[in-house]
Amino acid sequence: MPALPSTHNELDGAAQIGRGNGVPRHVAVIMDGNGRWATSRSLPRLAGHKAGVETVRQMVRAFAKRGISALTLFAFSTENWTRPESEIFELMRLLRFFIRSDLAELHASNVRIRIIGERDNLQPDLLALLEEAESTTSGNTGLNLVVAFNYGARQEIARSARKLAERVAAGEISPAEVTVESLEAGLDTADLPDPDLIIRTSGEQRISNFLLWQAAYAEFVFLPVLWPDFDEAALDLALQDFAQRKRRFGGL
Ligand code: IPE
Ligand code: IPE
Ligand code: MG
Repeated sequence: MPALPSTHNELDGAAQIGRGNGVPRHVAVIMDGNGRWATSRSLPRLAGHKAGVETVRQMVRAFAKRGISALTLFAFSTENWTRPESEIFELMRLLRFFIRSDLAELHASNVRIRIIGERDNLQPDLLALLEEAESTTSGNTGLNLVVAFNYGARQEIARSARKLAERVAAGEISPAEVTVESLEAGLDTADLPDPDLIIRTSGEQRISNFLLWQAAYAEFVFLPVLWPDFDEAALDLALQDFAQRKRRFGGL
């Protein structure tokens, strides 16, 4: 059988799996609904975010167990800074807590962590923790866990375009070298395959500035379940749905 065309670097051994009706190679998740989960229980929103972190813990294991080679989790968007200061403070505290408490176990499980998103203007101790998570696990060969933090796809695309514009202005490249490939090479996800499947929980059916470029041919599954209630059964439903899609990539 001839090799399937791929415009991306191959990621681990699972390279071709996502290209048919099998297990997706890269799944990205918009983890939404923490606040509503808490509110529906008359709890403060923070309780929903805490429960959401617990779901993250379980799902990292569940995705790895299913042979998915990359999992991208949307943890905090550039627009989430518009939330009340107290909620932002709690979310940052939870992220710090999660890295401190789980990094050793993730590393022992051979998980490779990467962070995508804007790093400028982050608090220095948080930035140091993110960098520690990446450097500690950089040699690991298991699940690629990509955390989209302070991430906005429009900003990511603009950053890549700016880098190319600077190179054009410096005379290093010509305008004709601003291509799909060179723009893609400047994205935070440059060495990752595009997501095959994007799951959004909570019933909302929108992309909210997540992976706009990379989602060009992703399959979408929107689930009514709130993120803290997302479990292996819900994951398997999404994977079954994905398995039945006919992906055409513009061809016949
Ligand atoms: C997702 O849950 C987590 C983040 C955006 C950080 P939300 O906090 O958006 O929960 P809802 O959408 O208000 O229920
Ligand atoms: C998207 O959820 C961002 C994350 C899950 C981190 P939001 O709750 O911020 O998105 P909107 O506001 O409903 O579009
Ligand atoms: Mg939300």
